[in-house]
Amino acid sequence: MKIVEKAAEKLKALHPEPQESTQIDPVSDAASASAVPDVERLQEQRQVVDRPSETAPLCHVDQMALKRMGYLPSNHEGDERLNDEMRRIKRPLLANVTGKNAKTPAHAQRILVTSPMPGEGKTFTAVNLALSLAREPDFEVLLVDGDIPKSSLTRAFGLDGRPGLMDVLADDKCRPESVIVRTDVPNLQVVPVGKRHKLTAELFGSRRMQDVLEAFGGKNRRRLMVFDSSPLLATSESPLLASHMGQVLVVVAASRTRQQAFNASLQSLHASQFVGLILNMSRLPASENYYDSGYGN
Ligand SMILES: Nc1ncnc2c1ncn2[C@@H]1O[C@H](COP(=O)(O)OP(=O)(O)OP(=O)(O)O)[C@@H](O)[C@H]1O
Ligand SMILES: [Mg+2]
Repeated sequence: MKIVEKAAEKLKALHPEPQESTQIDPVSDAASASAVPDVERLQEQRQVVDRPSETAPLCHVDQMALKRMGYLPSNHEGDERLNDEMRRIKRPLLANVTGKNAKTPAHAQRILVTSPMPGEGKTFTAVNLALSLAREPDFEVLLVDGDIPKSSLTRAFGLDGRPGLMDVLADDKCRPESVIVRTDVPNLQVVPVGKRHKLTAELFGSRRMQDVLEAFGGKNRRRLMVFDSSPLLATSESPLLASHMGQVLVVVAASRTRQQAFNASLQSLHASQFVGLILNMSRLPASENYYDSGYGN
């Protein structure tokens, strides 16, 4: 039975129709007018309590806006090159998820993109990696905005003001699935930041965080999660977020990231995690890659 029909039945039970007169008088007319919001309210309540993923909100990924914001290359050549670089970056990550690597880390499907300091290319890498992973026929991707102070990803996808990660962490009754936003890019879903909370670090280190990440992973182990984050050395919550991940990509900006900062950020990671290093923004000749990467446990 459809939701609206169910809601109408419930309303009928609450407001039984008059038995004798079928004439519509001004009073019953007013009552039925006020019943419309009731139906909507019942529908809304049902959606909050039991919203199936197919009816979750759909977000249009505005590629032109992403280009304007600098998160996608502006021309075809740059696009091709980046696609190729992302293929090289994602292969070892996928090998860890599918168990093709000898040493598979726990929670390999949780991938964090981070860097020591601001402005080194975390969000750029997270967006493009997620888009590239979403093209893999065997996987679906959940792109999560874990950079609470800046929430660049949330803004880039036009999801400001939507409930998100912080809402589910702060409220046990808020179901993790309810903050997942479907997009019109096949296999790509997004979780925005949501309402900021002053105890972000505490929430990131909480038991609830573990439960939420489990739920985000879904029953389907083919769901990859890509997290954007704040810099490892700039906020206390970033290393806490990193501690939940199986794989961590550390982006370093060529000629910018300092050795000391790089060393310190590696120390905040755990030896059991798979750590990938991405050299970003290097001024290599066009024949070579803009990105370079290296991996190690
Ligand atoms: N590989 C790249 N190719 C082209 N532009 C890039 C690349 N990496 C980063 N940029 C540009 O550099 C700027 C900073 O990148 P980005 O916002 O991803 O950094 P960030 O590490 O997320 O910064 P923050 O710490 O402030 O969140 C952006 O304008 C982005 O468009
Ligand atoms: Mg960023």
